[in-house]
Amino acid sequence: MKKIYLSSPHMSGLEMAYINEAFETNWIAPLGENVNKFEEEVCQYININSAAALSSGTAAIHLALKALGVGNGDIVFVQSLTFSATCNPIIYCNATPVFLDSDYQTWNISHKVLELAYEKYPNPKALIIVNLYGNPADYDEIKRIAKKHNTPIIEDAAESLGSSYKGIKCGSFGDISILSFNGNKIITTSGGGMMLSNNKAYIEKAKFWSTQAREKERHYEHKELGYNYRLSNICAGIGRGQLKVLDLRVQQKTFINNYYKTKLKDIEEISFMPVTEGAISNNWLTCILIDKKSNIKPLDILLALETENIESRPIWKPMSLQPYYKDRDYITVDNIAENIFKRGLCLSSDTKMTEQDMDRVISIIRKCFKA
Ligand SMILES: Cc1ncc(COP(=O)(O)O)c(C=O)c1O
Repeated sequence: MKKIYLSSPHMSGLEMAYINEAFETNWIAPLGENVNKFEEEVCQYININSAAALSSGTAAIHLALKALGVGNGDIVFVQSLTFSATCNPIIYCNATPVFLDSDYQTWNISHKVLELAYEKYPNPKALIIVNLYGNPADYDEIKRIAKKHNTPIIEDAAESLGSSYKGIKCGSFGDISILSFNGNKIITTSGGGMMLSNNKAYIEKAKFWSTQAREKERHYEHKELGYNYRLSNICAGIGRGQLKVLDLRVQQKTFINNYYKTKLKDIEEISFMPVTEGAISNNWLTCILIDKKSNIKPLDILLALETENIESRPIWKPMSLQPYYKDRDYITVDNIAENIFKRGLCLSSDTKMTEQDMDRVISIIRKCFKA
């Protein structure tokens, strides 16, 4: 039985030309033409001033926090419903995460919860917002509240390259924004990430820290702690070839999303992840929610699909429920993220799927609900 993946790397065929060029010029180094061009091309796509290509999205969040001066004991507000890489760098900085619940309209930080968080912690050093599964946060409200309290925003756009909110591309909503090019993302460099900002000073600082914080001296001089976080010239070459098909991948992901919606619309117990008002999602992963009263649980579907060699995945387990973070504060009104986690499932959203492949997924889901 042919395996159907959740979201696997999908090459354009244009990547090798950039990689060959790097080989021919012997730029098998962490820096080079591909890195510079990849940064420029992503900036152009998103419409932002400057970017630093890094080894991962996690490294980008770490350096974003450092650039905003987050350090020992600082409070950082962060979305609870996300992958752990969104908040682990807060711990790298010895700062204190405060987890914020989501709302049902966006699955991202609820502005009601954000207002509540400020009542308890009036001076957070930063706020990390996620565009979950590609769906943009409600930026008008979130930015208005953060601005009122003078809190800089880090936009975790790891999953949302190609999405937009009110005509503006994701990756440009934060004082600093970050992307991931991990293998499962809408475009990949096999592993990689990027930090983006209209404030060039943040990006210059990230480039400095990510290349071991080496001062401009002939000898190796270090006044600050450095990291080896730069993206390699080879990986950046993959990224350049991938960027050429980003819009096509968004179209394909959107086709998949619409296909599931159409073919499953008569099953009343299933609803789909919403799209934020005024936003366009890249539909990185198509996610469903199962009605509270249904006898079918997400795990039943996941296991039925797994038996047929089809990948699906539980919704991110909220950080407020993670054993590692169990003693951290969590601001909520009615535990929406936990509810989404219990009732939700990410369906195979691989752009290499054919309609027959999607029909296989759909017929297994339909069988679960018939039974
Ligand atoms: C929401 C989110 N934030 C951060 C990351 C971290 O990115 P990376 O795997 O490139 O470190 C990921 C994905 O892996 C992610 O999904």
